[in-house]
Amino acid sequence: DLYNFRSIGADTKVHGVIGKPIGHSKSPHLYNASFKSVGFNGIYLPLLVDNVKDFLNTYSSPDFVGYSYTIPHKLDGLKCCDDVDPIAKAIGAISCMIKRPNDGKLMGYNIDYLGAIAAIEEGLRGANGANPASGSPLKGKLFVVMGAGGAGKALAYGGADKGARVIVANRTYEKAVDLAKRVGGKPMHLAELADFQPEDGAILVNTTSVGMKPNVDQTPIPKKALSCYSLVFDAVYAPKLTRLLREAQEVGAITVYGTEMFLNQAFVQFEKFTGLPAPKELIREVLARNT
Ligand code: ATR
Repeated sequence: DLYNFRSIGADTKVHGVIGKPIGHSKSPHLYNASFKSVGFNGIYLPLLVDNVKDFLNTYSSPDFVGYSYTIPHKLDGLKCCDDVDPIAKAIGAISCMIKRPNDGKLMGYNIDYLGAIAAIEEGLRGANGANPASGSPLKGKLFVVMGAGGAGKALAYGGADKGARVIVANRTYEKAVDLAKRVGGKPMHLAELADFQPEDGAILVNTTSVGMKPNVDQTPIPKKALSCYSLVFDAVYAPKLTRLLREAQEVGAITVYGTEMFLNQAFVQFEKFTGLPAPKELIREVLARNT
């Protein structure tokens, strides 16, 4: 039932998600339903790709206008761009590629972090009833990122970009040092967080894979260390309620689920693909139906 909504014609804009494996991706459901709902003549395909460069050379027709990139191709995708936005360049990976209409150049973006940052800002604003026009609620806040892999980099850059003071805490300390230096933050060893007492109102972000299935009973930080944080975000989204988030709720922190990152990233990407405002409620529904 994915593509039976309309015939594909000469004007249909083709999009897809490039990855390997790709069968599990919810994105085709999400974008096909949302393209249809706003009357956008587009289609979105799951693309099982071995070699990004070969793929792009083969499918170079002007109708192929937008791609999402997922594991393991985010880095190769970046290498195939004609131009890359500064944050994607700094992160070293893209999550989205758009073919520029006027000259066909391939433009790379990393919008994963935008989704996560938007979800965290929404969590903070919801708590304070703040007005979105009054600037980022992350400004000046202590922003502790656990993990220094792809997602850790994205969140650390995102936090720094919003004016937060970033700490990068990682199991492999050298990687924390490297990333902290790049974002103007401070490094820590992940284990040190157990005894670290941040100022009240600090934000804690997990980008390590700890807590992901099948290690659902694990957490990257002991519960006793959570009480100073006002908000805890977990990039892990399966399971939705990780042990980290459950324990954060038990100590009274605001919690933001990893699924919110995916949703917010989908809103941003939809707008990049179509130039139209995202049908947010529909995207929420489709995602809930396919989880
Ligand atoms: P992603 O792109 O999802 O961020 P990644 O680049 O493989 O994935 O990064 C995984 C992150 O989880 C790393 O920060 C990793 O720490 P190391 O740099 O020390 O490898 C962290 N990680 C994975 N398993 C972990 C574990 N059992 N305990 C603590 N950190 C872990």
